[in-house]
Amino acid sequence: MKLIFLGPPGAGKGTQALGVSSRLNVPHISTGNMLRAAVRNETPMGLAAKKFMDAGKLVPDEVLIEMVRERLSMVDCKPGYLLDGFPRTVEQAEALEQIASPDRVINIAVPDECLLDRLTGRRVCGKCSGTFHISKLTDPGVCPVCGWTLTHRDDDQPVTIRQRLKVYHEQTAPLIGYYEGKGKLRTVDGDCAPEEVLASILAALE
Ligand code: AP5
Ligand code: MG
Repeated sequence: MKLIFLGPPGAGKGTQALGVSSRLNVPHISTGNMLRAAVRNETPMGLAAKKFMDAGKLVPDEVLIEMVRERLSMVDCKPGYLLDGFPRTVEQAEALEQIASPDRVINIAVPDECLLDRLTGRRVCGKCSGTFHISKLTDPGVCPVCGWTLTHRDDDQPVTIRQRLKVYHEQTAPLIGYYEGKGKLRTVDGDCAPEEVLASILAALE
């Protein structure tokens, strides 16, 4: 299965990808996580990408397309993939058609007004990739799954979140119509409990 999760910042793409990729037995490929790893490792690409990410803007298409082309050529992608955060522009979607056309696109829909709180309250684990909301944590600094230190993403500040939402509506939302036109899109309600969102996604994949 070749699958894409589409949705605004904070829709729950990463949260849902963990459960769905293990069920489908395909790798979860988050371009945001790959870019953050490149920033941490101070690679030339990571250093160049950081200024776009910190400003809440998209990293240039050519960088992302090459990164994804290389990742999808790896052996673990033979059974398929779950792409989270790619494509984000029509140019990226057109490139993906040439690399490995998706079978299905899940659009996780959440109203903008819910997203600011989700993102300002998000804490992430650098070890197990767990994602949590501060309201659900007894200790906001410690991962409840593996005990590692939780951090707040640099781009989860209110000003940057508003910019990311603007970029989403201008550059990424047009992909909803793009994939609808190809008959591949299924929209699920992401504004309910995570278990309910998971059930809707699995139903949409049947
Ligand atoms: P990326 O890391 O992909 O960020 P994003 O798309 O903005 O999405 P998020 O990771 O913020 O949200 P999510 O949908 O994964 O939500 P999550 O599950 O964490 O990209 C970061 C940056 O990298 C971009 O801005 C850009 O600069 C660059 N980039 C990446 N890909 C690119 C590309 N293709 N082209 C160009 N540039 C690119 O959940 C969020 C919060 O909500 C958590 O606290 C979670 O606990 C909570 N939550 C989740 N589900 C629910 C629920 N059902 N109910 C209540 N709370 C929930
Ligand atoms: Mg994410």
